[in-house]
Amino acid sequence: MDAFEAYSRLFSLLEDHHKFFSSSIPLIASENITSYAVREALISDFGHRYAEGWPGERVYAGCRYIDQVELLTLELIKDLFGAEFADVRPISGVTANLAVYSAFTEPGDTMICLSIPNGGHISYGKRELGGTAGLVHGLNVEYFPFNYEEMNIDVDKTKKKIEKLINEGVKLKLAMFGASVFLFPHPVKELSDFMKSMGMIVAYDAAHVAGLIAGKCFQDPLREGADVVTISTHKTLPGPQRGAILSWNKYADAIKRAVFPGVTSNHHLHTLAGLCVALCEMKAFGREYATQIIKNAKTLAQALWNEGFKVVAEKKGFTESHTILIDVSGHGGGLHVEKILEDANIIVNRNLLPWDLKMGRHFTNPGGIRIGVSEVTRLGMREDDMIEIASFMKRVVINREDPKVVAKDVAEFRKKFNEIKYCFENAKEAYAYIRIR
Ligand SMILES: Cc1ncc(COP(=O)(O)O)c(C=O)c1O
Repeated sequence: MDAFEAYSRLFSLLEDHHKFFSSSIPLIASENITSYAVREALISDFGHRYAEGWPGERVYAGCRYIDQVELLTLELIKDLFGAEFADVRPISGVTANLAVYSAFTEPGDTMICLSIPNGGHISYGKRELGGTAGLVHGLNVEYFPFNYEEMNIDVDKTKKKIEKLINEGVKLKLAMFGASVFLFPHPVKELSDFMKSMGMIVAYDAAHVAGLIAGKCFQDPLREGADVVTISTHKTLPGPQRGAILSWNKYADAIKRAVFPGVTSNHHLHTLAGLCVALCEMKAFGREYATQIIKNAKTLAQALWNEGFKVVAEKKGFTESHTILIDVSGHGGGLHVEKILEDANIIVNRNLLPWDLKMGRHFTNPGGIRIGVSEVTRLGMREDDMIEIASFMKRVVINREDPKVVAKDVAEFRKKFNEIKYCFENAKEAYAYIRIR
């Protein structure tokens, strides 16, 4: 292929992607949209630079402004999460988790966490699954007993399991709370003292719920007994794609060493600057934003239930977070439903349900779909708009209307929501393609 042809094709694909998202309803729970101020930071010269090490102790010159930005980011993030110590150098949530494994465990130790069907993330996975914990750090992995009715970790069974494992001589060193399907706060308060009395470190993966914690609308893991919290900075927290670790001063040296030189060298400084912007936005608007997320999630879950969808955890009020889990096994399964919704410009992802493997279902075509409302909330959608989204989904999945027909109505609906809210500057069109060539 001719180089200029490829070059032109790339930019036309990018523009097509922007058009697609301008007329879609984005409901992926792990995604969000950044403000224009974040994007300005992303195209700054910071993206061309290197800053290995800690501010003031870099191994490269030229960092005088970069250091100030990193120190400002550290101050903001510690304030938002009430942390004594923070490290904002991990370049993603997985990297942050890997740094925690390296800081607090040795290969051959064991971690207890949620299994993937129960909402766990592949970064907690066993070696045979290619999971980060097992394959990269050599951890053995045990799973929290999970209560399907509560859609949560079973406290009593977990205590018994931990006691049994330790009595058997297992080197159980780390508990990892947190999940990718995170409907309800985890029992950190109920388990952390017990875990610590058994010699374990209590970690909490807030990749999904970081924006809700910073907005004071979810549990507060550091106050509930967590030793260390990891986050992604781009899910409910509306920053660029990156990670961070929050903890206490007594763990600072171990964490710093694990992050650099352990799992990062340079740390993608344009996204550091973008994170700093997003944290300012969270400080100013975070509470209002997180409050609206929870209202939207609860309203959408109830509306979907009313429309005939089997939304998980009805007896518990469906969700206390940005996420909703729906059993679509009666509608052709997660793969099919994901596809027809995408054809209608409604973007969701298929997801394992806790009981899927026992029913013979597999992650390629699981029984569920997962929905998140962070991005639509950033676009200014509120409770009434959730009811409209539920009715679009019903038309596609339950009424089996032609998705292409529904897509036209979705695009029309989206025209009302083209600004990004909860940020200082919102004058521009949310998904506009910005051409600077
Ligand atoms: C619970 C959890 N932890 C960690 C991660 C990984 O985060 P990242 O994509 O920033 O590496 C994810 C990603 O979706 C997640 O859901």
